[in-house]
Amino acid sequence: MKTYSGAPYAAATHSALQRRLLRNASFPPRTAQQDALKMSAVPMVPEVHLFLAEDSVLLWARLETEDGPLSAPYWATPWPGGQALARYVLDNPELVAGRRVLDLASGSGLVAIAAALAGAAEVTANDTDGYAIAAIQANANANGVLIATVADDLTDGDGEDYEVILAGDCLYTAEVAAKMLPFIGRAMQRGATVLLGDPGRGYAPPGLLRTLTTYESAPLVSGEDGQRDQTSVLTPVAVALTS
Ligand SMILES: C[S@@+](CC[C@H](N)C(=O)[O-])C[C@H]1O[C@@H](n2cnc3c(N)ncnc32)[C@H](O)[C@@H]1O
Repeated sequence: MKTYSGAPYAAATHSALQRRLLRNASFPPRTAQQDALKMSAVPMVPEVHLFLAEDSVLLWARLETEDGPLSAPYWATPWPGGQALARYVLDNPELVAGRRVLDLASGSGLVAIAAALAGAAEVTANDTDGYAIAAIQANANANGVLIATVADDLTDGDGEDYEVILAGDCLYTAEVAAKMLPFIGRAMQRGATVLLGDPGRGYAPPGLLRTLTTYESAPLVSGEDGQRDQTSVLTPVAVALTS
């Protein structure tokens, strides 16, 4: 099911989660409560502000205290791959302008927001984590853009009719990469433009993805990840990615 941000917070599908996110967020930032979310500029993409964790490990612990076992709050960090890809999209708006865009593994919604700011006709952000969906909607509202969200796992398909598929840091474990890479190959085969942001975690098959540009990585706002020096924007080059 698709839901659209841009509506008042209380009307959103994930309104309870959204209310919790917003209740915990502060702007200007608090300093006393280190497990809070705060509205922060993204280091490589200062045009975009997001609700981000001051300390994502503490945030995770607090959310689990409230809700029981949860996935790590990946949505509360702008990952290096997402930052690089969002930067690239904003600097090359012709890639998305007037086109239907899917941001796969969207997390905070950073790349989707960049695509919307760059003039995409329609942007859908997809993530299988319900907390990410709530964060995407809150972040889209905060940045004044309209983004649809989808919480289904789309990786068995080929990206439907999206003309551009963007994916920041979607190759972060072997298991996830094994789902993402065949999807990316199928999307490319049907003619979609596919762009990945990847900091070189070792799951991007050499020879199958071409580097478009490489950035010096910015420091993470909240360090779930070891700092990586460089992050590249990649595009698939071979049909060999298909399953
Ligand atoms: C490392 S985070 C990257 C988030 C964001 N793109 C960024 O760069 O900041 C990866 C995200 O992929 C999501 N994810 C994992 N498997 C997925 C799947 N099969 N479909 C959609 N999202 C998935 C996770 O929930 C997480 O939010």
